[in-house]
Amino acid sequence: MASKLTPFLMRTAIRSACRASRPQAPNRAFSLFAQRRSDTLMVHRNTPDNNPDVPFKFTAANEAIITEILKRYPPQYKKAAVMPILDLGQRQHGFTSISVMNEVARILEMPPMRVYEVASFYTMYNRTPVGKFHVQACTTTPCQLGGCGSDAIVKTIKKELGIKQGETTPDGLFTFIEVECLGACVNAPMVQINDDYYEDLTPETTKALLTALKESVTDVSKAGKVPAPGPLSGRDTCENSAGLTNLTSEPWGIDKTREDL
Ligand code: FES
Repeated sequence: MASKLTPFLMRTAIRSACRASRPQAPNRAFSLFAQRRSDTLMVHRNTPDNNPDVPFKFTAANEAIITEILKRYPPQYKKAAVMPILDLGQRQHGFTSISVMNEVARILEMPPMRVYEVASFYTMYNRTPVGKFHVQACTTTPCQLGGCGSDAIVKTIKKELGIKQGETTPDGLFTFIEVECLGACVNAPMVQINDDYYEDLTPETTKALLTALKESVTDVSKAGKVPAPGPLSGRDTCENSAGLTNLTSEPWGIDKTREDL
């Protein structure tokens, strides 16, 4: 037995000696990141304005819309209407509270947990109250690189509103968050405010936009001064800002392509 163990013991002793003579790597540093606000989106905590005891019912007008929405789906699959009806609830109530979700679950005869899963997965459902203007700044790569870059836009928004990411101004007018690509990369950088996109932004146009939105509430004489949604650079939709570079002449007719006809 001793003769069988000897090679094993020798190898182990040699490895240990080698390991001891090797320079030790410095201890790996662990770093802790600040908790991201999006982490809190996955949980619900009862608050005075958001708990299951807060009553919620759809208005008669919205109930008529729900009836219309439900007609789009076979009766046995009416739970497929969960997203548009949650959206309707959010528009009526101001945010997708637990009471809104429970009411949607009741209407669609779904387990409430299934509705919670949908509402917590899609970021367009605000499960906590937001301000009158929900400012969502895109900070994905094309917006970071396009124009003046989203960093400059985010900095301007924070400075003008005096709030950080995820916060609401004390007057309840603005909530600001950073979001991923909103699909308007060609007009970067951009923000979404409620249902509208504002594109081709600069720090100056961003500041003017926020001021106009604030004044539209605080000064009724300036209510119509909010810029129209779309590019604030003056270009039309997503046309080339340098003007047309092709299709600049009359299109050919059939006489040029098929003289024989
Ligand atoms: S990266 Fe900002 S809209 Fe696509």
